[in-house]
Amino acid sequence: METRWQTAHDMRDWLARALAFVARAEHAAIAARGEFHIVLAGGGTPRRLYSALAGQSHDWPLWRVWFGDERCLPADHPERNSRMAREAWLDRVAMPAGNIRPMPAELGAQAGAEAYAAGLAGLGDFDLVLLGLGEDGHTASLFPGREWGESESAPDALPVFDAPKPPPERISLSARRLSRAHRVLFLVSGAGKRRALEDWREGAPIAAAAIRPAAGVDVLMDAEASPEG
Ligand code: 6PG
Repeated sequence: METRWQTAHDMRDWLARALAFVARAEHAAIAARGEFHIVLAGGGTPRRLYSALAGQSHDWPLWRVWFGDERCLPADHPERNSRMAREAWLDRVAMPAGNIRPMPAELGAQAGAEAYAAGLAGLGDFDLVLLGLGEDGHTASLFPGREWGESESAPDALPVFDAPKPPPERISLSARRLSRAHRVLFLVSGAGKRRALEDWREGAPIAAAAIRPAAGVDVLMDAEASPEG
């Protein structure tokens, strides 16, 4: 599987490259299937991309917004990934409410994972999966030493009860389901991610490397995160 590494010159370039990547995925999906299924990354790095998308004009009614993972907190909790995406972007554009599919993490990890997997039943490959990268190589809520759901029999969504990154209880799409994607873009920024990128490039079995779509993955990093410095 191919991993394509991109290093942006600066944050402006990083954002321009991320926006262009999303636009290419959107146009290809709509041309082929008439709608665009995108999986959002959580954490802090994607916020700037989401804010920039809010300032653009897209065919929002054709977008279907899924989440790669969610923290088991009340639906409107400030630390929810869905709340970050809504505040930065989704509540600022004409996206039909029914097109946004947050993870029901307020139900708890087990019930929420089962409900989300049921909602994904019958859906084909995602058109675009956005993912972050943790300093320990985690992605979504797939953490070192835990179940990543790589096998063909793995469920689409996994309950997580002991995440080392708080909160401990989460829901995550499995590595298998995240790999069922036409395009995967990792959004990486900051010197804190440099070691994880070095490990990844050296072939270390980090969770991010378990995301293995047929078309390969793209990793967009800024100069601070780049192992080339
Ligand atoms: C979460 C995210 C997580 C995140 C990475 C990177 O719920 O925290 O899904 O996987 O993407 O930890 O987080 P930052 O972008 O904040 O560094």
